[in-house]
Amino acid sequence: MKIAVFDSGIGGMTVLHQIIKLLPNEDYIYYADTTHLPYGEKPKEILKKYIFQAVDFLIDHDIKALVVACNTATSAAIEDLRMSYSFPIIGIEPAVKPAVLESETENKKVLVLATRLTLKEEKYHHLVNRIDKNDIVDGLPLPELITFAEAFNFQEEQIVPYLEEQLKPFDLSQYGTVVLGCTHFPFFKDIIEKSFPKGTSIIDGSMGTAMNLKRTLEKRHQIGGGTGLITFYKSGEKVEDKDTLRHYDGLLKKLDCLL
Ligand code: DGL
Repeated sequence: MKIAVFDSGIGGMTVLHQIIKLLPNEDYIYYADTTHLPYGEKPKEILKKYIFQAVDFLIDHDIKALVVACNTATSAAIEDLRMSYSFPIIGIEPAVKPAVLESETENKKVLVLATRLTLKEEKYHHLVNRIDKNDIVDGLPLPELITFAEAFNFQEEQIVPYLEEQLKPFDLSQYGTVVLGCTHFPFFKDIIEKSFPKGTSIIDGSMGTAMNLKRTLEKRHQIGGGTGLITFYKSGEKVEDKDTLRHYDGLLKKLDCLL
């Protein structure tokens, strides 16, 4: 049986990359719902329909667990998904807790970078209200980074001006930790790091999600049985085009240096 990893696009590969490090002896099905991208700019009810369509497709592919490797899809649909399917479903949410713990001790603030929908959703507000007792957490949507990533555009000379413009209203010296609360953003980790003062930590929830998956499979005695094979799908179509597969392989290798 396979582990399904789901995102609107290539962002979930940042999570898949961490999962493979922890669980090399599994087979994977990676599903990118590219027809309906970007998720972060869509109304929640429409998104839920797309997410259920994708998961209904995945259940016919012999899966033992589903990783919703998308903060936006997690915030929009994780509870409904868990109520509708019987296999384990692991989500991802912005790593606000470790960020607040870290920054509070340094008298610094936290900046959460995510999609518009994630930052607007109740799930995120509950999380922040529970943890952020001293009101140190700010949020900023960066939708263009998703467009850049989907075009495999990681060119510093194009990303930096966009980031500079978006970060202009913020006093960056106040922030001790930046949370990458969208799974597309770790692809830009090095560039984001350079946009903040030296010493600012840049964190994301991908390893936490991978560990969560590992614990869940261990508890169910469902670890192993695969050979590290990854099958890619784009909104229900198997990806067989050699150039695209080469790009995906390149992305996973790029992440070896970033995460
Ligand atoms: N990768 C997704 C996330 O983690 C969002 C990308 C999109 O807006 O489609 O939130």
